[in-house]
Amino acid sequence: MERVNIIGAGLAGLSAAIHLAKGGVPCRLFSLQPSERAQSVLAEGGINGALNTMGEDDCTENHYNDTLRGGVYMADPNAAARLTEGAPGILRWLEDIGVPFNMKDGEIVLRNFGGQKKKRTAYARSSTGKIIMTAVIDAARRYEVSGLIERYPHHELIRLIIDKDSCTGARVRDSYTGKIADYNGIVIMCSGGMNGIFPGMTTGTTQNTGDAVACAFSQGVRFGNLEMLQYHPTTIGISGKRCLVTEAARGEGGRLYIERNGSEWYFMEEKYPELKNLMPRDVVAREMYFVRRQEDCGDQVYLDMRELPEETWQNKLSDLREEIISYLSIDPKDTPIPVHEGIHYFMGGIDTDIRHRTNIRGLYAAGECTCQYHGANRLGGNSMLGALFGGKTAAESVIEELSGEDNAPETEPAAYEGTDEYSDPASPELIEKISHILLESMGIVRSESGISAALDRLRALGNDAPAGGYNAREQNRLRLAEAMLLSALERRESRGAHYREDYPEKREEYRRTTVAELKGGRTEISFRELPERRQI
Ligand code: FUM
Repeated sequence: MERVNIIGAGLAGLSAAIHLAKGGVPCRLFSLQPSERAQSVLAEGGINGALNTMGEDDCTENHYNDTLRGGVYMADPNAAARLTEGAPGILRWLEDIGVPFNMKDGEIVLRNFGGQKKKRTAYARSSTGKIIMTAVIDAARRYEVSGLIERYPHHELIRLIIDKDSCTGARVRDSYTGKIADYNGIVIMCSGGMNGIFPGMTTGTTQNTGDAVACAFSQGVRFGNLEMLQYHPTTIGISGKRCLVTEAARGEGGRLYIERNGSEWYFMEEKYPELKNLMPRDVVAREMYFVRRQEDCGDQVYLDMRELPEETWQNKLSDLREEIISYLSIDPKDTPIPVHEGIHYFMGGIDTDIRHRTNIRGLYAAGECTCQYHGANRLGGNSMLGALFGGKTAAESVIEELSGEDNAPETEPAAYEGTDEYSDPASPELIEKISHILLESMGIVRSESGISAALDRLRALGNDAPAGGYNAREQNRLRLAEAMLLSALERRESRGAHYREDYPEKREEYRRTTVAELKGGRTEISFRELPERRQI
């Protein structure tokens, strides 16, 4: 049987690979870095699932409602329903493969996380991603032995092989040998968030360059909600990147304040008495932005963890404390730490249906590179869930597609000897310029004039190509950046992570998916109605 090609070996890619293998379908896992260095390893605070182990009368419908509310009713309701209903099963699977979650009396302990009214986030201290990845990598190894999974670390997608609206394979380069080959078969994109579009400004790894999705966009793959960038409220700047201070710090009792008239003002507690410091991230980040601009306030927000009990530091946040001491030389047990918003997650990405199919036959996508689960703002703890569940669903859809067909036999990769126009890297100078243009106009507060000016600058940059022109990857990035700006321009309302000072209210007519697609060399933006929720 022809192998399925998975681009990206983080949680979504591994999940897709394991579930394909379980169904007897062989696959290849290509990734720029080995799984051990994937973005998923950096996830800290936890993973959501309504296990109801804390005696709070929780259920999957509550999780669904919080997910929809957190995403300001812009997530696909059917996709979100499947995700939240599937979440307890995902947590039990992780437990079965040996993830050492924090436990009490033989049950998984759940913690509070932003935007959720019940304790629903399973965790392993504050290194949940690393610990989950260790177990999932190990689960995949069992299938490597039988040959069902082949791993190709240090391999980079050069382009999708698309023939008449069907994807028939992937052109991939071995970064060490430089050899390029064409691998036939279905493709599942699991390439993660577009961190490399914003070097230095995200909590994610810039090994997720964004080139894979930029290439897909240029090859006609449809994208959704590209304007929705999540700013995490609590990050710290270290050596050229934003380092995450997990939301679990607030979930376990950490409090945000700013100096106002000489005393500490715990603004989230005063403004949002119910969820306080655990409002959804878009709300917290925006409040931080605005209080810093108040005349009677200082210009720095602090996270105060001085009241956390010793037991919490020892059993739940020990790794966070070590990290803060080593990066800031501050012990958060005794001293509040300065925090700032930083880009953390891309709610927008490849547009898929609930079975993770894209607009190109033979091409599927899962994980952070997609857009369907989180709407205008993702809940903390739904990211690893979306990756694991999405990878599993994509695999199940592929298995279903293959079951109805006479399957082509596996073919050897065909060496590609020519020079592919997509293979040269984008220049760091251009990457930097594009990221500045986007950051200035797609921050926490946006406006028509800011976005339009950014579009002008981006187009001027596009017209100001060096001698010989921009290479194909540079053009891909310029196109994707333009699609982000156009999406932000066209959404004339404020919703979730997209706050427009010229349209500060939500508008019902915009409760739709923003669709971006390259047609005839031009980016077109349209809006698609969200479906009604079905019983599934
Ligand atoms: O703050 C955090 O630990 C992040 C978790 C997430 O984004 O899901």
